[in-house]
Amino acid sequence: MKPTTLADLRQLKKEKRKFATITAYDASFAHLFAEQGINVMLIGDSLGMTVQGFDSTLPVTIEDMSYHTRSVRAGAPHSFLIADMPFMSYATAEQSFDNAATLMRSGANMVKIEGGDWLCDTVTLLAERAVPVCGHLGLTPQSVNLLSGYKVQGRDAPGAQKLLNDAIALEKAGMQLLVLECVPTELAQRVTEALEIPVIGIGAGNMTDGQILVMHDALGITARAPKFAKNFLKETGNIRDAIRLYIEQVESGAYPDQAHSFN
Ligand code: KIV
Repeated sequence: MKPTTLADLRQLKKEKRKFATITAYDASFAHLFAEQGINVMLIGDSLGMTVQGFDSTLPVTIEDMSYHTRSVRAGAPHSFLIADMPFMSYATAEQSFDNAATLMRSGANMVKIEGGDWLCDTVTLLAERAVPVCGHLGLTPQSVNLLSGYKVQGRDAPGAQKLLNDAIALEKAGMQLLVLECVPTELAQRVTEALEIPVIGIGAGNMTDGQILVMHDALGITARAPKFAKNFLKETGNIRDAIRLYIEQVESGAYPDQAHSFN
């Protein structure tokens, strides 16, 4: 089987074909997701909440991320894997080199970092050293204490403009993929149209190039799921059909609908 690459994702954007991605933390689920047709997975630091039971992603370490990245790689040898750089692991350029290297050696194809244009230098330095970078804008969970909670971002004009400017600056700096979390559909559409690189939304409406869901939300495991999350297992009754339904609804644009978006 041919491995999925960044070039494949750029081609999907060019052809205006939407794609589904999901978080994965272990080999068994990663294998199941790949088997059903998900070619891109994120080893998210959301594992601090979904797997480790903390109330935020802040306690997650680079060792945790490396362990789970290895596990997911073992289950999905051909998938394109994005691994989250955890809180404070990219505070300086030197830290970001060492920590990105750890994740790439664990099997990641790309690392993800949260934040705006202050990360431009880091993005450039990593890209120059052969580490592809995925940005993360909008609701950035590592900043939960600054943001005073998990809230929709970019609702007012200055906030929306700042987010758009950050996205453009990061793309210029060398960012190859962008995750947009919890922003109004209209803003996500503006960003998606302004960038050449693929944009993956979560709680960002159905106008982005791709979608991502935390696997526990897609399978109805999360006790208090966010508004944008949909329990695909409820409709299907088994995990494989649930994942296939998720893929179908993302590819057709049926998910997320109005009820699972912010306007
Ligand atoms: O950590 C994570 O799972 C994420 C997604 C919410 C995109 O960053």
